[in-house]
Amino acid sequence: MRIILLGAPGAGKGTQAQFIMENYGVPQISTGDMLRAAIKEGSELGQKVKAVMDSGQLVSDELIIELVKDRVKKEDCAKGFLLDGFPRTIPQADAMKENGIDVDFVLEFDVPDEEIVKRMSGRRVHAPSGRVYHTVYNPPKVAGKDNETGDELTIRVDDVEETVRKRLAIYHDQTAPLIAYYGKEAEAGNSKYVTFDGTQTVDAVSKQLAELLG
Ligand code: AP5
Repeated sequence: MRIILLGAPGAGKGTQAQFIMENYGVPQISTGDMLRAAIKEGSELGQKVKAVMDSGQLVSDELIIELVKDRVKKEDCAKGFLLDGFPRTIPQADAMKENGIDVDFVLEFDVPDEEIVKRMSGRRVHAPSGRVYHTVYNPPKVAGKDNETGDELTIRVDDVEETVRKRLAIYHDQTAPLIAYYGKEAEAGNSKYVTFDGTQTVDAVSKQLAELLG
C-alpha cells in the first residue's frame, strides 16, 4: 500500500496519517516531521532549514528529494508507505517517477482556506511522535497533554496566522498543480485518485478512508 496524502497545510493529512498507520501498519513518512526532528537535533540539515520552515517557505526540492529517496529504501517501507507532505511541487513528483517510486493511491483532502486558518489556531502537537490534536475538534484526553506519554503538547512556530496564510498561498501556487498531475496519472491507470471532503469530522473522514482502503 503506497499512498500519497495531498492537501493544503492543516487539511488533516497528519491526523489521517495517524489513523492509516495505526490501522494498516504502513509507516508514515512526514517530510515536515523529519525536518522538525533535524532542527531539534541541531544537525547540519536542521540548521539549513530552520529559518525557511519558520517563515512558511518550502525547503529546496533537491534537499527534500534526497531525504525521501533515502527514507523509502529503509526496510520498514518494503510493504508500503504513507507520504505526508511529499511531493509538494511538480519537480518533486517528477523525481519520484524518475526514481521508480510508484504509488497506488493519491488521497486529497479538500478544505477551504478560511477553515484552515481557524483550525491552525487550535492545533497542538506532540513533537516527538508527530501526534496531532485540536483544542476543540480533536482534543486530547487530558487538556494540553499527549494521550500516550502525558508529555506537554506544544504549538508549532509556523502556526501563527500570518505564516499560515503565506503557506496557503504557496500551496495554491506550487502544490495544487499536483491535483491535475495525479488526475492524469489516474487516467493513465498508474494510480487511484480520490478526493475527500476534509471539512467533515475527523472520524467521518477516517471512516471513508477505511471504506476505500478495505
Ligand atoms: P508540514 O509539517 O508537512 O506541514 P503542512 O503540509 O503545512 O501540513 P500540516 O502539518 O500543517 O497540516 P496537516 O494537513 O498535516 O493537518 P493536521 O492533521 O495537523 O510542513 C512544514 C514545513 O516543512 C513546510 O512549510 C516546509 O517548509 C517544509 N516541508 C515539508 N515538506 C516539504 C516538501 N515536500 N518540500 C518542501 N518543503 C517541505 O490538522 C491540522 C489541525 O486541524 C489539527 O489541529 C487537527 O487536529 C485538526 N483537524 C484535522 N482534521 C480535522 C477535521 N476533519 N475537522 C476538524 N479539525 C481537524
